[in-house]
Amino acid sequence: MRKLTNILVTGGAGFIGCNFIRVLLTKTPDFKGRIINLDALTYAGNASSLADIEKEFGGSRYFFQHADITDRARVEEIFKRYDIDTVIHFAAESHVDRSITGPEAFIKTNVMGTFTLLDVARNYWTETRADGTKGIRNDVLFHHISTDEVYGSLGDTGFFTETTPYDPRSPYSASKASSDHLVFAYHHTYGLPVTLSNCSNNYGPYHFPEKLIPLMILNMLDGKSLPVYGDGKNIRDWLFVEDHNTAVWAIVNKGTSGEKYNIGGENEWTNIDLLQRLIDIVAAKAKLDPAAIRSTITYVKDRPGHDRRYAIDCSKLKKELGWKQSVTFDQGLERTVDWYLANPGWVANVKSGDYQKWVEHNYGKR
Ligand code: NAD
Ligand code: DAU
Repeated sequence: MRKLTNILVTGGAGFIGCNFIRVLLTKTPDFKGRIINLDALTYAGNASSLADIEKEFGGSRYFFQHADITDRARVEEIFKRYDIDTVIHFAAESHVDRSITGPEAFIKTNVMGTFTLLDVARNYWTETRADGTKGIRNDVLFHHISTDEVYGSLGDTGFFTETTPYDPRSPYSASKASSDHLVFAYHHTYGLPVTLSNCSNNYGPYHFPEKLIPLMILNMLDGKSLPVYGDGKNIRDWLFVEDHNTAVWAIVNKGTSGEKYNIGGENEWTNIDLLQRLIDIVAAKAKLDPAAIRSTITYVKDRPGHDRRYAIDCSKLKKELGWKQSVTFDQGLERTVDWYLANPGWVANVKSGDYQKWVEHNYGKR
């Protein structure tokens, strides 16, 4: 039986992690434990995303630790101080475009950082049994959050399943694939209890505004151009972030150790069709002229090695763990647009970091 009492969430100040922590502490009555949020607060991490949680639960059920997952001594200290029994590992360098302009940070955090966490967990969770032998406790779990991008790129048909061979094609996806292999290596070699999930594109509140959906919403509101890579026909499968997180919680509770689970929205869109839908929603809510917004769509140079299509078969998760998506794409997009309209302070805060400099350096002012 898993303890799930002192959960180390890494990367909890990022997009998906902060939504996960909020839902777990405010909307998950079966969870009674504590969350320790370990985050290095890179350009993508914002402590302010959890200010309400800090206020309500800080010091009782929520603890923030500003630390880097590659810093072994700090990670060991955190395991000991909070007697960690579960790791839910979100922390990563997550933006494909940044991995093209600066791959090193991806190798360091995604590969070395995951290795450090696995190795500290293995040591901390090793016990001496009654017969004098040593082994890893069976009430602990290391859950690794990964991506569908490890499977490569699809043609017009077919879906990624849990047995699709890995074929990562960007420095980001190669670093995530490496971390996935390390997770299973620790399971097979040392008996570390692990689960792993490969998810499709998330969207929702607190999404960092370099990624497609928040970038487009905010550019529309600012009257800036809408940069579409290549021909705009690349396909992604979109999943509302809260649905990703209910899937993660189901796997952490009921998933079989040593198994991986695909998580997806079953919701494929070309980038250009998604943008057209988003324009209608933003225009209606912000009382803007949709035709004027459409005139700002600009086809720009394609992402090098741009994967054409991702599509997830998540039937294993649905059948074995009874999970399903709860939000239609229109509902999710409306909630997302409402959130960005209601939170200009958060946007100004995250944009005041190195984000603007990075965009201007790579793309010029847009
Ligand atoms: P994000 O970039 O918004 O957040 C990443 C968080 O990790 C930030 O808070 C950052 O400060 C922290 N971090 C980065 N390097 C760190 C380090 N060395 N030590 C400690 N903390 C560090 O990412 P996200 O979109 O929330 O993604 C979370 C996880 O989900 C990642 O592992 C990503 O690969 C995976 N994933 C994301 C998506 C998506 O659509 N966003 C889809 C599938 C899988
Ligand atoms: O599939 C899961 C992955 O989804 C996660 O593992 C990554 O962490 C996450 O960032 C996301 O990766 P993508 O590269 O798919 O997301 P992004 O929002 O960067 O781009 C989505 C699509 O939109 C992609 O085809 C590129 C395109 N795009 C993106 C931007 C930022 C544009 O056309 N214009 C843009 O300005």
